[in-house]
Amino acid sequence: MLTVSDQVLQSWQHNANLWIDAVRNGAIESRRQVTDQAILLALLARQPERVLDLGCGEGWLLRALADRGIDAVGVDGDATLVEAAHTAGSPAVHLASYQQLADDAVDIGCGYDLVCANFALLQQDIIPLLSAMNRRLQPGGTLVIQTLHPWAVAAGDYQDGWREESFSGFGGNWQPMPWYFRTLSSWLNALQIAGFSLLELHEPQHPQNPAPQSLLLIAQRT
Ligand SMILES: C[S@@+](CC[C@H](N)C(=O)[O-])C[C@H]1O[C@@H](n2cnc3c(N)ncnc32)[C@H](O)[C@@H]1O
Repeated sequence: MLTVSDQVLQSWQHNANLWIDAVRNGAIESRRQVTDQAILLALLARQPERVLDLGCGEGWLLRALADRGIDAVGVDGDATLVEAAHTAGSPAVHLASYQQLADDAVDIGCGYDLVCANFALLQQDIIPLLSAMNRRLQPGGTLVIQTLHPWAVAAGDYQDGWREESFSGFGGNWQPMPWYFRTLSSWLNALQIAGFSLLELHEPQHPQNPAPQSLLLIAQRT
């Protein structure tokens, strides 16, 4: 029987081609206007030499990093997205589910000085995965997470739990995706339990929009 976390990945398998088009056509306004640049600047500010992009999707961030001379390795659980990243020019992209990564069942290399996850932590139990990423980092290495801002998407229900993204604004035959909402304190607790200490917290905003467009957490392997 499929767990809800399995259903998350299954929805990406269904939605992969629509997602590739959406990202590459700039269909997601908040990404175009704010969040793509926010994570890229957060990564560049750390001056990393070797980055692992967890849940890299079709690979836009890998390409942005490679363009700036940074050795960028990706990993994602969907074969269509991994293939799209390869075809677009990123040679080092691994196919692995988060469960396989948490179990250290796939060799994705180690000694990274930075691991990032851009809107890619969608399941409930992220601590085993973050602990596995901790083991892939050099001592003192950095973890950068960009995610939906809990306050901006809570819609009056500010407690951890499963929600559903319908992709209704996107157009096309999208399969709804379950995703796990967590409060700010749940994010911070997860980081701590997985062996990270918070260095910085950012709330990227668009000048014409009063709501934060994302939450950016920058943490260090302790
Ligand atoms: C919203 S997309 C973000 C992709 C990319 N980081 C970006 O910024 O465009 C979420 C990504 O997480 C991956 N993902 C979700 N659950 C996963 C799982 N259990 N194992 C591996 N990958 C997973 C999906 O395949 C998808 O590429």
